[in-house]
Amino acid sequence: MYLWIKALHVIAVISWMAGLLYLPRLFVYHTEVGQGAPSALFKKMERRLALYIMAPAMIVSWLAGLALIYFGSFHGAGWLHAKLALVVLLTGVHFYFGVTQKAFERDENHRPAKFFRFINEVPTLLMIGIVILVIVKPF
Ligand code: HEM
Repeated sequence: MYLWIKALHVIAVISWMAGLLYLPRLFVYHTEVGQGAPSALFKKMERRLALYIMAPAMIVSWLAGLALIYFGSFHGAGWLHAKLALVVLLTGVHFYFGVTQKAFERDENHRPAKFFRFINEVPTLLMIGIVILVIVKPF
């Protein structure tokens, strides 16, 4: 049972990460086209990615991850606390992207493409830290 939950967790996490890595890329291209004709297509792609992929994937990642904590015996595991801290930051990034997606939808984004190129690296760095913590379990 535990391994089935872990498989579900990894599937959900891969889907969540796909969105977290791709949505800021879409923001970069969206910023570059401004409010021209392709903007409507970007709005549709961003909304669908956020709503139909990222939101359900984040919920399943959390539920399956919490079930793993419940069924596993990780009491006092330092790596788990550190991982949870990084996952909370990742969740914050997720909600920030959601707010940004809605701003694009209302044509109210004022941030430059350079900003989204920079913020694009944040989920990557968090993912590297999370995977090292959960696989290597260094402490
Ligand atoms: C959303 C909140 C999350 C919670 C509560 C959580 C919790 C956990 C727990 C307790 C395990 C079991 C560890 C073990 O059996 O040794 C696990 C496994 C795993 N988690 Fe998470 N996790 C979360 C999010 C993430 C994220 C965002 C990633 C990747 C970016 C991730 C990647 C993994 C991987 C790859 C494993 C399998 C490790 C292994 O079997 O060696 N998790 N998670």
